Amino acid sequence: MKPALADATRGRILFGGDYNPEQWPEETWQDDVRLMKQARGVNSVTLGVFSWSRLEPEPGAREFGWLDRLMDLLHDNGIGVVLATPTSSPPPWMGRLHPDTLPRDADGHIEWWGGRQHFSHSSATYRRYAAAITEDLAARYGTHPALTMWHINNEYCTADHGDEAAAAFRRWLRQRYTTLDALNSAWGTAFWSQGYDTWDGILPPRRAHHYLKNPGQVLDFRRFTSDMLLECYTAERDIVRRHTPHLPVTTNFMPLWIGQDAWRWAREEDVVSVDLYPDPRDPLGAQHGALVQDLTRSQARGPWMLMEQAAGPVNWRGVNHPKPRGLNRLWSFQAVARGADAVCYFQWRQSRQGAEKFHSGMVGHAGEQGRAYQEVRQLGAELERISGDVSGGRIDADVVVLHDWHSWWAGAHEGRLSTLVDLPEVLTAWHRALWEAHLTTDFAHPEHDLSGYRLVVVPQLYLLTDAAVANLLAYVRGGSTLVCGFLTGVADEDDRVRTGGMDARLRELFGIRTLHEWWPLEAGETVACEGFRGTLWSEEIEPEPGAAETVPYRGGELDGLPAVLRRGRAWYVSTLPEPDALRTLLSGIAAGAGVRPVLDGLPAGVEAVRRGELLFLLNHGREQITVQVPGTHHDLLGGTDVTDEVTLGRHGVAVLRS
Ligand code: GLA
Repeated sequence: MKPALADATRGRILFGGDYNPEQWPEETWQDDVRLMKQARGVNSVTLGVFSWSRLEPEPGAREFGWLDRLMDLLHDNGIGVVLATPTSSPPPWMGRLHPDTLPRDADGHIEWWGGRQHFSHSSATYRRYAAAITEDLAARYGTHPALTMWHINNEYCTADHGDEAAAAFRRWLRQRYTTLDALNSAWGTAFWSQGYDTWDGILPPRRAHHYLKNPGQVLDFRRFTSDMLLECYTAERDIVRRHTPHLPVTTNFMPLWIGQDAWRWAREEDVVSVDLYPDPRDPLGAQHGALVQDLTRSQARGPWMLMEQAAGPVNWRGVNHPKPRGLNRLWSFQAVARGADAVCYFQWRQSRQGAEKFHSGMVGHAGEQGRAYQEVRQLGAELERISGDVSGGRIDADVVVLHDWHSWWAGAHEGRLSTLVDLPEVLTAWHRALWEAHLTTDFAHPEHDLSGYRLVVVPQLYLLTDAAVANLLAYVRGGSTLVCGFLTGVADEDDRVRTGGMDARLRELFGIRTLHEWWPLEAGETVACEGFRGTLWSEEIEPEPGAAETVPYRGGELDGLPAVLRRGRAWYVSTLPEPDALRTLLSGIAAGAGVRPVLDGLPAGVEAVRRGELLFLLNHGREQITVQVPGTHHDLLGGTDVTDEVTLGRHGVAVLRS
């Protein structure tokens, strides 16, 4: 059996963060360990994420002494190590001696060293150096007792349009299409005289004329980039696995990041981990967190790891706000409630130099007395208290939201009808409706087995493969309920628009005879529908007479035509209803499908999640609030029993066992 997060947690919740001691004199290390132990729950640190130039100061050299001392120090103090391969930030000598390791953007500009992630995924030289340092790290530390897990690279994200990448792109395309005819057909190269007569003529989508690029080429380049980065990951993973087959391996995702097909990547990981930084000022920050957590849990198919969050402000937004008192704790418990068995931060000690010196740490510039560390200390102790009850616990959802990167990529082409339609926003709007209705929600790929769910929600799947369409049809035929948002089923796997503007089988499913026109809306514009207002998009649909119940548009060009259609258990929503309306609509559909909210009568701003035997209650508001919870429960954080109700303070949390 392949290793899992449980092999690293061993029944606890991992708590800690990225630790970059190479930025500090060795005396500070002693203080770090003292503070980690004092914050009792700190039981894990991630070492070495950006240590390449320290480990290999010149080509082929190795300086492991400092890391040896650190590994020993941490082990002696009972702190486990997630050891990173340092390959996301090559030392300056690499770019200087080997310019072929540097990526190029679409304009042909080199992405130089001086920041990070300046490596070409296709560079044989980069891959050789990356494999060598990984091999030596694994050989040296594979048997070290502090080691609990491997962390490969960091937030893989760099595309490359250079010559070596172009050659790799051609190889990738040959594998996908075998013949040039197939490629020409998939890319629709009859348009604008783009037919290829030789593989050598194919390039990454570099800067062309100022107008639109070929969508097929752009889509395949995104697929290729995701696959090449994945190859870099699996190459390093396989090296560490050879040395330590019993230890789990991960690489950290960015939340809802467009650059990686995270379903595919997750299959290659033992532990799925994510970095999550909701904006503390965003009124929907908690919902963004919940969405990312639901998605990550679904990719992990079980417990997952919050690899990074911030104890206070980040430093990469325009204006970077601290977390108000209690918010760090609240959002950490939210992650645990939604399936995390590891709650970690970027980074342990806030830097005094470097690009992120104003990014918070678990120990901020204010030091031991600062609020960041004091809150971390309290949180660590609380997590330790509940870890035995929560660790490994699973979450059951009756609702599943479908999401697919290939569809996102294809739908994001610059030549679409409305650039206001942005998939993450549409996805967020639909997830928000479910979150506010207290419906526990998983995510899935459109070709996954959906049979365990009562309700499938498709906010938008512009591109649907034939297999995915068949999956949806079988699901509804099996007696379950499906609701789809606009711009779903428009294109096939090659981004070829399906005849009729929507897959014919789906049109039949929803009772649509003809989809005459799409009518996108301007920013801020709304369209009246019977009982609510729609935003962003509307459609001129002629229904199959008598086939479907409909909710009509009112007034304007589309007056009387269906905004919502329902045929049996299949629903189609051709606009984006305003938030309250979408929540009401989805709550009604869910109730009809037999899906119950986590708790009835929850006050606004309180989130409830069941994980295993536990009920988590999270107050996202700043006012004290009382929540009705029929029966007697043990409050794990308070250590008392509560009956029928529990009171949550500002940003308060209760973890109840019934
Ligand atoms: C990412 C990176 C970290 C750090 C943080 C800052 O998540 O992985 O190295 O840059 O962002 O928020």
